[in-house]
Amino acid sequence: MFGPDWQHRQRRIEDALRHYLHTQAATAPRALVEAMEYSLLAPGKRLRPMLVLLACEAAGGTINQALPAAVAVEMVHAYSLIHDDLPAMDDDDLRRGLPTCHKKFGEALAILAGDALLTLAFEVLAISYAPATVTVMVLELAQGAGAVGMVGGQVLDLAAEDRLLPTRQPIERTIDGLEGIHRRKTGALFRASLRLGVHAAAAGRADQVQATTLQRLDRYAHAFGLAFQITDDLLDVEGDASKLGKRAGKDAPRGKLTYPGLLGVAESRRRARQLADEAIDMVTPLGQAGQTLAELMRGVIERDR
Ligand code: IPE
Ligand code: IPE
Ligand code: MG
Ligand code: MG
Ligand code: MG
Repeated sequence: MFGPDWQHRQRRIEDALRHYLHTQAATAPRALVEAMEYSLLAPGKRLRPMLVLLACEAAGGTINQALPAAVAVEMVHAYSLIHDDLPAMDDDDLRRGLPTCHKKFGEALAILAGDALLTLAFEVLAISYAPATVTVMVLELAQGAGAVGMVGGQVLDLAAEDRLLPTRQPIERTIDGLEGIHRRKTGALFRASLRLGVHAAAAGRADQVQATTLQRLDRYAHAFGLAFQITDDLLDVEGDASKLGKRAGKDAPRGKLTYPGLLGVAESRRRARQLADEAIDMVTPLGQAGQTLAELMRGVIERDR
């Protein structure tokens, strides 16, 4: 998984993140750009942009075609982390091995840096693809990120902690209830990442091959997203902050609805493995990029950060 091709993709992603931030936000207030840069360029794993690249390659496209969409998704993700860490949400002080954005820049600037990254993501799509492709990509990213996707999931996540006052949003403390939260708060953006990759490759074409690829990648995304979030929850129980780059042991005292909280560690791990196997079956027929997606899935459930 971490061979030269992998490192090449990682480098291209890092360069592209820097490039789009610096060109598109060149005339923005300096304090804002500093806060955006701090969070966007901090050492994240870049899983979502990597999925965009690999899906694009699996659908017959190139890294260059995928990069702007990859940047857009990582911008949305970075914004979601800034807001997730705010005192009104998870109230965390460590992210990607650094003080969280609001600890470093204050809450107001952190909120605005998040807002600006979210909007910049759509700008990057708009300047990078042909109009028909921009339209499908904007729709895909908006749905993955918004009220029916990640933001909706964050609301359900807080509801499960009983923190939506005065409005009640009852959450079943069952596997189904939990899966519903994970599918939105985490899965939706992974799904959007893979779909954006296919759109980047297809650039408006929608032939049979793309439809089959899209279907396989959707099923991969579903299993990948759940396996990823189960592992995130397990790392909160068992992980080490110095490796994770964020604090561990915070979910249980908050009463967060998690897999290990509901099923215990061993059963959660078993489910993550089972989901990973399902994901891998989906992408194995998709050539070299499919192999890399399979390896990525393995790496994600075995990670320590
Ligand atoms: C963390 O995502 C937030 C969740 C959705 C659980 P990642 O684990 O992908 O975070 P980075 O990008 O590597 O920091
Ligand atoms: C965050 O989930 C999901 C997002 C949409 C950012 P968590 O709250 O579990 O993520 P961490 O553990 O803080 O990274
Ligand atoms: Mg959270
Ligand atoms: Mg959090
Ligand atoms: Mg977590």
